[in-house]
This record gives sequence, C-alpha cells and structure tokens, in this order.
Amino acid sequence: MSLTIDRDRLLSEIDTLASFSDAEAPAVTRIVFTPADLQARAWMKARCEEAGLTVRQDAVGNIFARWNGSEPAAPVVGTGSHIDAIPNAGKYDGVVGVLGGLEAIRALRQSGFRPKHSVELLIFTSEEPTRFGIGCLGSRLLSGTLSPEAARKLTDNDGATLDEVRHRAGFGGELERVKLPIGYYQAFIELHIEQGPLLERRQIPLGIVAKIAAPASLRVLIEGSGGHAGGVLMPDRRDALCAAAELILAIESAARSSGAVDTVATVGMCEVFPGAVNSIPSRVRLSVDIRDTDLQRRDVVIRTFEATSKAVSAKRQVSIQIELLNADAPADCAPALIEAISQSCRQHELNFLPMVSRAYHDSLFVARIAPVAMLFIPCRNGYSHRPDEYSHPDDIARGTLVLAETLAALSG
Ligand code: GLV
Ligand code: MN
Ligand code: MN
Repeated sequence: MSLTIDRDRLLSEIDTLASFSDAEAPAVTRIVFTPADLQARAWMKARCEEAGLTVRQDAVGNIFARWNGSEPAAPVVGTGSHIDAIPNAGKYDGVVGVLGGLEAIRALRQSGFRPKHSVELLIFTSEEPTRFGIGCLGSRLLSGTLSPEAARKLTDNDGATLDEVRHRAGFGGELERVKLPIGYYQAFIELHIEQGPLLERRQIPLGIVAKIAAPASLRVLIEGSGGHAGGVLMPDRRDALCAAAELILAIESAARSSGAVDTVATVGMCEVFPGAVNSIPSRVRLSVDIRDTDLQRRDVVIRTFEATSKAVSAKRQVSIQIELLNADAPADCAPALIEAISQSCRQHELNFLPMVSRAYHDSLFVARIAPVAMLFIPCRNGYSHRPDEYSHPDDIARGTLVLAETLAALSG
C-alpha cells in the first residue's frame, strides 16, 4: 500500500485551527465550550464531513467521525485526541492527534484501502482541566471512569454546572448515554507530541508509549486571618499565604524524595485573597498536581502532603482543607498494538524509542475499556503548554504516516 500524507494541507489545517483562540498568536487559548472552542468544533466537523466521514456527537460533546468498514458489526479501530487548549498554550498539543488522525484516514481512503473494521476519529471533550478542575472529561465519561452523577456535580470557575454549560453550548441529551460498551473499540491509537525532551535529545523520530503515568489533583483551601499590613504585629499573624508557601515547598520535597524520577508534583495555581499590597492574605487556594507511573509511590506523596498540612495548620493556626479532585491509576499500553506500531516503523526503517508518557492523555481512560497505544513525535526543547511549542513538519508527517499504516494493519 502506498500512502501519501498531504503535509501542506495538514500544516495549514493546524494553523487554521490555531486561529480559533482567545489569545494573541502564537499563543492559543481554547477552553472547552467557549465560543472559540465551539468555532473550532464546527470547523473540525466540516473537515470530517468533507472527508466523507459520518459525524456524531454525544451529550458531553465528544465528536466521533466514522469511516464505515465492510463489517459494520465488527469493533471499531479508533484514533484521535483533543482540541481544547489551556491558557497561553501552543498549537500542537492534542491537535496533532486530531488533524493527524484525520489526515491518516484521508490518506488511507485515497490509497484505495478498504477497512473491514470501521475506523473512527474521536475528538474528546475537555482533555484539559482548565474549566472544570479535572482533565479528560469526555474520555472519563465515555469509559465509565467518571459517573454521570459525579460529572453533574462539577462546576466551572463561575459556579456554573457542567449541565448548564453544556446545554448553553448546544449539547443536550443524557450523560448516562455517553459511556461506550466494553468491546466497542477493537483498538485505540493516539498520536501526540511528546511534551518532553527525550526524543529530540536522542534524535529519535518516534516514541512508542508503554505506560501512561497517572495524575492526582488536589484543591487546597487555606484560611487564616487578614488585616492591616502595618497594624498587625508578627506574633499575632495567621497569614494564609505564608502557610501556603510551606505547603508548596513541602509538596516539592515529597516528590523529590520519592526515590524515582517518575514522581512529579506541581502547584500551578495560587489564588490569594484579598490580593492587596497592604493587606495580610486571609485566604489562599492552591491547585496541586501529582503524577507517577507507580500508584503506591504517588499516593505516598499525597499522604505526606496531608500530614504536613496538619502540622502547618497547627503551627500557624490556619485551617487547611484538602479536596481530592481525582486520583487515577496509571495504564499500560497493549503489547499487540505496540507491536503493530513498531512494525510500521520497521517497515519504514524508522528508529523508535519505548517511552513512558508523563503527561496524561485521553488514552489513559480509553484504556479502561479498550486496548490502547500511543505514538509520540518530538517537540522542540520538549516545550509544551506554552506558546513556543513546536513540532517539525517532517516529524508531524512521519507520525501521521505511521499512524495511517497502523490503522490499516488493525482495521484491514
Ligand atoms: C495534559 O494536558 C496533562 O496535563 O498531562
Ligand atoms: Mn495539554
Ligand atoms: Mn494533550
């Protein structure tokens, strides 16, 4: 089979998708169910229909674009990723897997290949946690990892519930109907930028993921006592931000001392109330993100953090509440799918690196109901979640080609 990836079209589509954004280029900000996200979705659906795919969407806005196989009852071979983007992001995270997936399907169609299993491009809703506090909303619901009842309790930063927000965005229907049956997917393959520096450093064009690390997210609320920055003497203070500072360093130290490079922890948000130069912070809210490929090791970090927070609370006379938003289990990729991708690499004499995904992905949740694998391409300096995120066109085209061949091998 000879496949032609239309690299210029793919690159130009990546640029066009980046224009649906609430940030000034080159930054991309596309939060789920904002007008920018809805425009991007409409544009994506039009591209899928133009490619001859049948498009449907579920109640939470996951988009499925299907190429029917000759055996319609056979389980589906899926590919895809997400198009939402965190504030001040780049244009490749998620998008390479969606537009690369679409291009892979177009290349297969054009080559005359006819699949037995239907091939489906999936665009997951809200892989990023920006709006509702947890990531992979669409894939969690679709895999049954998040129950509809729990999803209905989620609120965005303005206090609007998921139901209110999705209804306003035009997504009706019951969340109960989002979950797919086990066996729906024969296989699921996600193409993604690495979001780390290893492939580039070692000059290896492709990574094949063996294991996806799992995140835990905490929201921490610290309440002390505010007051005048001049008037309140130091012995009388119950400064919520000083307590937060101790907690931030404690979580860093817990992750550093886990004994494994795979343990990482980040405090990415720190909201200080009332936020005035001459006012003692009375309230602080922190977001904490902890990840590991080993569940036990990650959970030790959570427990250490909880113990430290009790000690800080007692010492500083502040109240500290910790809300566990999610604590997911890592996933293994399926050996048979890893082998299918490896074979396609070998066919093209492409070197590849077995890898761990330290970022999480929708595949982590699809793995609960189907065999999954992930294909990584390099990104410059390992940068991601920043406007200067960049992947070379050759790498994007190469990843797309290997994806197309793998989809053919799995669906043929
Ligand atoms: C996904 O964007 C992640 O934070 O790993
Ligand atoms: Mn991301
Ligand atoms: Mn991503």
